Amino acid sequence: MVSLIVAASENNVIGKDGKLPWRLKDDMQFFKKLTTSHVLIMGRKTFESLPKVLPNRVHIIVSRDKNYDVADENCYVINILDEAIDFARTFLGKQIFIIGGGSIYEQAIKKKAVNKIYLTRVKAYIEGDAFFPEISPKDWKEVTRTSFPQNENNEFPFDIIEYERVG
Ligand SMILES: NC(=O)c1ccc[n+]([C@@H]2O[C@H](COP(=O)([O-])OP(=O)(O)OC[C@H]3O[C@@H](n4cnc5c(N)ncnc54)[C@H](OP(=O)(O)O)[C@@H]3O)[C@@H](O)[C@H]2O)c1
Repeated sequence: MVSLIVAASENNVIGKDGKLPWRLKDDMQFFKKLTTSHVLIMGRKTFESLPKVLPNRVHIIVSRDKNYDVADENCYVINILDEAIDFARTFLGKQIFIIGGGSIYEQAIKKKAVNKIYLTRVKAYIEGDAFFPEISPKDWKEVTRTSFPQNENNEFPFDIIEYERVG
């Protein structure tokens, strides 16, 4: 099973200038809890946007650059997205999370490589340059939703919504 995890504004913005355009501590905690000890697949730009290699997680970085290399025992660079997903499956007993960015989300959803989406819907309209694709209600059914308020931890209110593939 492959899950996708994303935070997107009402207008589907996920990033600006290579960074997240908000500060949502409770959402970061949710991401950490869900993904720790599992396998993450990400585009090269998302990897470079991380402040550091995330502890206790396998990082599979997708890049077309055959010379791209990351000197860390928890990081692997793969040149083809399908092969990255196949490689992720070799880590038996671990869950697989596609963690972005926009180009990887779009390709993975189009290929129907994803069974579950954890979408943090940030309740704001934000300017940005990286986007989450529109997901069709024909293909995705909402199964749970949890609301978080705006407060000193969270710059905006947001809902964490879990979707399962139905189409
Ligand atoms: N809000 C969220 O949940 C969230 C999550 C993740 C990221 N983000 C944001 O999203 C932005 C980055 O997203 P992005 O769309 O610009 O970049 P990205 O998807 O992270 O990375 C794009 C790169 O991935 C590689 N790539 C993409 N498709 C490939 C394929 N089929 N085969 C091989 N390599 C492939 C290419 O690397 P090469 O150029 O090296 O070939 C490409 O330039 C940042 O602002 C980040 O902060 C937000």
